Amino acid sequence: MCGIVGYIGRREASPIIVDGLKKLEYRGYDSFGVAIIGSSLTVSKHQGRIAENANSAGSLQGKLGIGHTRWATHGIPNEINSHPHTDCSGEIALVHNGIIENYAELKRALLAQGHTFRSDTDTEVIVHLIEDRYKETQDLLSAVQATLPSLKGSYAILVIRNGEDRLIAARCASPLVLGVGDGEYFAASDMTPLIEHTERAVFLEDGDIASVSRTSVAIFHGNEPVNRPIELVDLRLEDVKKGGFAHYMLKEIYEQPQAFYNTIQAVRDLSLSPEITCISPITLVACGSSFNAGLIFKYLLEEAGNIPARIEFGSEFKYFPPPVGGTVIGITQSGETADTISALLQAKAQNCCTIAITNVLGSSVSRVADRTIFMRAGPEISVAATKSFVTQLAVLMQMVNRLSENTYDEILAHGHHVIEELLLMDFSDAVDLCMTAQSIFYVGRGAFYPVSLEGALKMKEIAYIHAEGYAAGELKHGPFALLSPKTPVIAICMPGKTYGVMISNIKEMKARGAPVIALGSAGDKELIDIVDLYLPLPGNNVFVQVLASLVALQLIAYYTAVALGKDVDKPRNLAKSVTVE
Ligand code: F6R
Repeated sequence: MCGIVGYIGRREASPIIVDGLKKLEYRGYDSFGVAIIGSSLTVSKHQGRIAENANSAGSLQGKLGIGHTRWATHGIPNEINSHPHTDCSGEIALVHNGIIENYAELKRALLAQGHTFRSDTDTEVIVHLIEDRYKETQDLLSAVQATLPSLKGSYAILVIRNGEDRLIAARCASPLVLGVGDGEYFAASDMTPLIEHTERAVFLEDGDIASVSRTSVAIFHGNEPVNRPIELVDLRLEDVKKGGFAHYMLKEIYEQPQAFYNTIQAVRDLSLSPEITCISPITLVACGSSFNAGLIFKYLLEEAGNIPARIEFGSEFKYFPPPVGGTVIGITQSGETADTISALLQAKAQNCCTIAITNVLGSSVSRVADRTIFMRAGPEISVAATKSFVTQLAVLMQMVNRLSENTYDEILAHGHHVIEELLLMDFSDAVDLCMTAQSIFYVGRGAFYPVSLEGALKMKEIAYIHAEGYAAGELKHGPFALLSPKTPVIAICMPGKTYGVMISNIKEMKARGAPVIALGSAGDKELIDIVDLYLPLPGNNVFVQVLASLVALQLIAYYTAVALGKDVDKPRNLAKSVTVE
């Protein structure tokens, strides 16, 4: 949520920064801005997408600068509230990702001292505080070091000052990485914008402050100098490019077979003891799609391993902590979701053993949890989670496999083939039914209930069609009142112990006038006869049927959004990494 980029070197800074911000737009995209130091400090800020105003921001002259792409928290998305923010003199500029929780009291004090505020943001207090400290120290690094202890909350900041040939970077609970070039340095929220310039990176830790010049970087933890290693980052430029696909989301859906395979290989020898034993209760905490992945895990684990598991929303757990013991697993592809991280901290306070499942090396969650298991999805640029979801499932399914004595080794080793088969299917008839719908219900039972939740979430977020996932038996307890020919139902109906009741449920829905699209197993004549559209899925085991139905629902949502002309990769009001509670 919000992306920041900084540059100092021999090249013009603004095109590098603007280009970098475009790659971070998935973190927020309601407004953006850059500040460049050339003959003086100049700032260019704009409401809306970067592509619409890239030329004016990208033509500022100077070889040192900072930029920001915003997902509004404090203050509406407009030019004034967009970053960079400057101090009263206009000599210091700052960009910030995070939330300053005590900004109101700091602002009151600064206003009383005579500072002039222009924006409604929490961020602006930081630059005025630095302004005050600079008056005392006449040194930008010392001024930032003296300012940070007054801040409560989370921040990754970049600061520049007219007349100083350096960039100050600092982080606390928001991500920040420095890219090391040849006679040039970069700073960014993550490696995505840096990979085309360098593969050498320094990951700052919470409490670090870096003073970056053209030729060197000095890092302090608070006021103490520290050494942070330069790491070689294993990312390829192709990973962050669209590569001929119409959208990142489609590219990422097509990358799922490989991503699933890579993750299964990476966790093949996953050992779960001593953290998880069959007697200790397992609790999962997560948000959004990651919550849905956790709920699938709960069903699979209880069915396959007869081991109880519970799942809680990260956003509820911190404030209403349930009595938990044993192991708490936080699932977060970004590794930065504030609600999930808070929940894990709460679990630690309750003496639980914590495990994080994340896609991002060095992310905040991996510093919080006792142990981290990495998915191998590669960078996911589109806001809607697809391959990160499938790789979360890969890790979680492997956990179920381990806890049920490796019963599913063979199935997991071939899971990627099922996803490949799905990618060849045609969903155009389903899209035709969905794109004119007022509302869509997704229903399933057991592990297919959370698959329904995930399918509905995808449709809501990228096609902006109201959609709800339901446990199939629950529809008759109220939502039936909404069924009509304009309210299709997507039913996942697989052979097994709930098949008979699913068939009855589908007949009840049909009787209320709803068109039914069924995802079923190949050759199911009974199902074919009663539904409006039947989509046969491969697989005869719940693990692969979950993967197959999930990918089908992703594709139906994607093609519906495209047919409706929506901005698939950057849906309105959303951001990929939600670092606020
Ligand atoms: C939906 C989506 C979100 C995220 C949620 C949690 O497509 O991406 O619902 O799943 O914001 O994000 P992470 O997994 O980064 O904690």
